[in-house]
Amino acid sequence: MKPETIAIHGGYQVDPTTRSAAVPIYQTVSYAFDSTEHAAALFNLEAEGYRYTRIANPTTDVLERRVAALEGGMAALCVSSGQAAVSYAVMNVTKLGCNIISVPQLYGTTHTLFAHVLPGQGISVRFAKSDRPEDIEALIDGGTRAIYCESVGNPAGNICDIEKLAQVAHNHGIPLIVDNTVATPLLLRPIDYGADIVVHSLTKFLGGHGTTLGGAIVDSGNFPWKDHAQKFPMFSEPDASYHGLVYTDHYGKGAYLGRCRSAYLRTTGSVLAPLSSFLLLQGIETVALRVDRHVANAKSVAEFLRHHPQVDWVNYAGFPESPYHDLARKYLRGRACSLMAFGIRGGFPAATKFYDALKLVFRLVNLGDAKTLACHPASTTHRQMSPEEQHAAGISPEMIRLSIGIEHIDDIVADLDQALAVAGVAG
Ligand SMILES: Cc1ncc(COP(=O)(O)O)c(C=O)c1O
Repeated sequence: MKPETIAIHGGYQVDPTTRSAAVPIYQTVSYAFDSTEHAAALFNLEAEGYRYTRIANPTTDVLERRVAALEGGMAALCVSSGQAAVSYAVMNVTKLGCNIISVPQLYGTTHTLFAHVLPGQGISVRFAKSDRPEDIEALIDGGTRAIYCESVGNPAGNICDIEKLAQVAHNHGIPLIVDNTVATPLLLRPIDYGADIVVHSLTKFLGGHGTTLGGAIVDSGNFPWKDHAQKFPMFSEPDASYHGLVYTDHYGKGAYLGRCRSAYLRTTGSVLAPLSSFLLLQGIETVALRVDRHVANAKSVAEFLRHHPQVDWVNYAGFPESPYHDLARKYLRGRACSLMAFGIRGGFPAATKFYDALKLVFRLVNLGDAKTLACHPASTTHRQMSPEEQHAAGISPEMIRLSIGIEHIDDIVADLDQALAVAGVAG
């Protein structure tokens, strides 16, 4: 099926009991066992079925299958937020004393997790000086367990050369983990270019309406965990927390998510609520239409900003002069994302005047909503960083990040125009 069709039908077969056309919300914590024997078979993973919603739920199952199909992966695991997905994806391949290599351009909270939280658990994250494959490779050593990047960085808008990063990772026997939140599988499917694991904040474009938090981890099923058992013993050695289960034996190619579910979701519990799964599924039904409109509106806004005298620079990969233009052509087929950043003449004071003058465009920290949103990263999402870290992450004081929505383009441009006029007068 094509992505537009997967978004509507993927992962769901009409419920045999009720014939419900919409995916039913299984608002239940537990599932009744037929007998002691049945319960034991479920707990031994010998029988198919559900035990407890923290581990799996039929509504969330549909979401998992749909997201996996959209990304071209073998399976997905959905969790309560994008941050939970990022955390589990990395924790599942690392243990005390290991490291991962990350690009520097990251969503602010992912940066905080990597720079401050994981090191406290004995997992160090080495930030490369750029997203270039050679800068990443230079940091790899025997303790490295993954390369991490955002396919399109939030908010820097950089586009990673996924094919080359995957080659570097595989040459060193480690997986490439890609956060594909900003691009969405409608514009780019990292697995097609060799990525092993894809993570998502479903909260953004996939859900699409700014109502529901959720995250997903998609496994390509391609990484040969067994061939690299020395680096990743957690998949091929008996797990004492699950009476000796060997994930590669039990799940085969699905070992990574099998362990993620049993070892992390089960014990640390960042479970997605069934109602949230339903709302996210409903959002996904229209994602293809929305992304088309987001992309078209973003192109018009970028052109408008580029020619505005109050605007110093516009970071938009759709422009031929963008350093990421060639990568946008390759990976996004020229359809640059609707997340963009620009700098206002007059620096920080002008940026805050502009921000305060917005009337239609929301001042908030989110992206991928049907509504157009504006954020000032230096004072919000990235304020925990030092000026040096902000610079490395592509953040500057005069920078405004826009997530262009699907309103009528004339109304979006009119609001930006009047706010720029206010900033100009003030400046
Ligand atoms: C690229 C990216 N990854 C992950 C996240 C975290 O997602 P959530 O807010 O669903 O935890 C965000 C949130 O903005 C994001 O932009």
